[in-house]
Amino acid sequence: MSDLTPQVRRRRTFAIISHPDAGKTTLTEKLLLFSGAIQIAGSVKARKATRHATSDWMEIEKQRGISVASSVMQMEYRDCVINLLDTPGHQDFSEDTYRVLTAVDAALMVIDAANGVEPQTRRLLQVCRARNTPILTFVNKMDREVQEPLTLMDEIERELGMSVVPFTWPVGMGKQFHGVMDLREKQMRVFSPGEDRKGADDEILPGLDNPAYAERFGMQYENARGEIELVQEAAPSFDEAQFLAGHQTPMFFGSAVNNFGVREVLDALVDLAPPPSERAAIQRVVHPDEKKFTGVVFKIQANMDPAHRDRIAFVRVASGRFERGMNLKVVRSGKTLRPNTVVTFMSQKRELLDEAFAGDIIGIPNHGVLQLGDTITEGEALQYTGLPFFAPEMFRSVEVADPLKTKQLRAGLTQLGEEGAIQVFRPVAGSVLLLGAVGQLQFEVVAHRLEHEYGVKARVMPARYNVARWVTCDEADGGEKELKRFIDANDHRVALDAVDAACVLLEYAGELRAMQENWPKIKFHALREHA
Ligand code: G4P
Repeated sequence: MSDLTPQVRRRRTFAIISHPDAGKTTLTEKLLLFSGAIQIAGSVKARKATRHATSDWMEIEKQRGISVASSVMQMEYRDCVINLLDTPGHQDFSEDTYRVLTAVDAALMVIDAANGVEPQTRRLLQVCRARNTPILTFVNKMDREVQEPLTLMDEIERELGMSVVPFTWPVGMGKQFHGVMDLREKQMRVFSPGEDRKGADDEILPGLDNPAYAERFGMQYENARGEIELVQEAAPSFDEAQFLAGHQTPMFFGSAVNNFGVREVLDALVDLAPPPSERAAIQRVVHPDEKKFTGVVFKIQANMDPAHRDRIAFVRVASGRFERGMNLKVVRSGKTLRPNTVVTFMSQKRELLDEAFAGDIIGIPNHGVLQLGDTITEGEALQYTGLPFFAPEMFRSVEVADPLKTKQLRAGLTQLGEEGAIQVFRPVAGSVLLLGAVGQLQFEVVAHRLEHEYGVKARVMPARYNVARWVTCDEADGGEKELKRFIDANDHRVALDAVDAACVLLEYAGELRAMQENWPKIKFHALREHA
């Protein structure tokens, strides 16, 4: 306990994970609307419309300023401060999304009730599971003809390996969607369609077994009653520890576009999602209510004006209290930072603008002082771990058309690499730089930005590699010496990344297996967590 404890306890920091089109944007907007952070629906959607034009990078660039401002949305609800972190929608930017997920304490999974569990949801969920992030589930679009709720529940359990605890249960669907039974409050919330409703006018009927239901809701009620009985017998009861460990997920049904079920999700975030907890650094475990400020950079985004090349580092506050103008240290470089023009995301209350607590996100404009994964403290030598870099699955080589621009190319790529827009590799033998990405779009973005921000026309050409693994060797197995022997023997296919970590590049997965057999002391990693 400290005097910061009340501030920490009232924070909730989460992200929405979903497959495109499941309703993330709609739900985000409704959450903001219900908490009073925005007055009219439409602003978040407008942004998405521009984001959708992913093939037209020029357009995106114009919008970059907007997306910086709305990457984090803060709202106050029932005395809680809720930070909602946006995750990029396009799957080519999924690496960025994975890193955003390291900065949250909970995730809200939105599932399209017609489509069930979709690939992108599955991928994102794996990341949450790996970190034991608690997950709330919202089954959306019940106003459409969708899958049977029991089938959906089964699919979520099977596909995602979590047990599902329904908190509400739908009565009917599509044109016959009558509402949801609140299994805990033992009441029914009657559905009425409409985008402009605020939810407060929902009709509530007492009891799960009200005699009036059969008459009013007919067969849909009878079915729901049977299903609820089944579920109550078969499903486990809610267990907070299981939920916090990411093994159990409370499930809610609704229709975001109709503002139905949204308030229940907000309430669940406040009541169930955890406040910021302790975080592991290499040196020690840090508690969120410790007095001294610490934070970690989990995302870097180019700022509005590309000509100035300033960037915003998104910092998740891990402990202490952030105040504008305080002296901070970047642990990696030892450099001092005195952020005066911090971008905060607190639009509602003016007096909150100058400080932030654990769970909050602050944006620090800088010119390359901050890199992804950096830890910032008031002086303590501390390094947080766990910011993932994934082994790229696509490679291109890159050259400049004009050799005199080689320096600019390197400078540009270094910066873009630090931002996490792309991974840059320098082959141990050879001079042509290699770019590694998870999605094709990343190459296009990088080529465009090199030209417009750094004045470099780059030739991006196919490279023969398809597989990459970072390589290390434990001390017990020979350490640096054995690693050097491996690198020397394979120098034609080893490259160094932005932090000089060695990576082996291969054409086929089969080659990797052979290599692993030949070099049993070398460890091959698909994921790198920190420098
Ligand atoms: P995303 O961010 O996850 O990609 O999804 P988004 O919110 O943009 O929603 C995708 C589509 O699904 C949108 O329709 C949206 O209106 C619709 N939608 C969201 N929630 C519900 C719901 O509860 N019921 C129904 N029936 N539809 C829902 P769209 O046609 O792509 O866009 P729009 O023209 O309607 O805005």
